[in-house]
Amino acid sequence: MNLLSAKNLSHTFEYELFSDISMDLDEKESIAIIGISGSGKSTLLHILSTLLTPDSGSVSLFAEDVSQMNKKRLAKIKRDSLGLVFQSHYLFKGFSALENLEVAAILSGQDIDNEILKRLNIYEAINQKVTELSGGQQQRVSIARVLTKQPRILFVDEPTGNLDKLTAHEVMEIFFEYIEKNSAGMVLVTHDEELAFKCKKVYRLENKKLVAVK
Ligand SMILES: Nc1ncnc2c1ncn2[C@@H]1O[C@H](COP(=O)(O)OP(=O)(O)OP(=O)(O)O)[C@@H](O)[C@H]1O
Ligand SMILES: [Mg+2]
Repeated sequence: MNLLSAKNLSHTFEYELFSDISMDLDEKESIAIIGISGSGKSTLLHILSTLLTPDSGSVSLFAEDVSQMNKKRLAKIKRDSLGLVFQSHYLFKGFSALENLEVAAILSGQDIDNEILKRLNIYEAINQKVTELSGGQQQRVSIARVLTKQPRILFVDEPTGNLDKLTAHEVMEIFFEYIEKNSAGMVLVTHDEELAFKCKKVYRLENKKLVAVK
């Protein structure tokens, strides 16, 4: 089943970032987007995850055109089906790690997966306040929080920037197992080509186009 279909996307800020870009994401599929700094990877991810409206072109989620959805429908899809793991974590700062996960569990009606907490190695820090956690711990808590929602599509922007190599690879394994088990899909943006090539498909954003490199 197709989870996401982007057609003929173009976007310009100060200069034209990309034009006429199309891509599709299917169930159990992972796609990595690499490219030099400033090439527009994060902007493209923002468009695919409905945070930004493209200058032209369309994005369909679960076979529904995003531009045709009313606000309520779009909000529901965002809440229930999209999981965003971005560079800034957006954890609730005054809360503990566990309280952050509990909020996600309550809002989505899902249970916290203790297995994921153990594998992300945040079990022993779970009662600490977010402000008392290291950058890498905060990143791992935010990954656990997004997975707790059980989204159908993961949009992931440099998820392992604060993590050592071993932890980064473990995080990728958790993502891959998650999408397999939940028939979900993932679009990953990263500078790290080694991590990128673990995905099923890899595209490079260069000269305003998406070039398939795997
Ligand atoms: N909201 C915005 N308003 C104006 N310009 C923007 C905005 N967001 C991004 N840009 C510009 O668009 C260009 C691409 O930015 P983007 O963040 O998409 O690049 P990137 O490929 O993700 O880079 P990096 O690898 O450094 O994260 C940059 O020149 C940036 O300054
Ligand atoms: Mg970026």
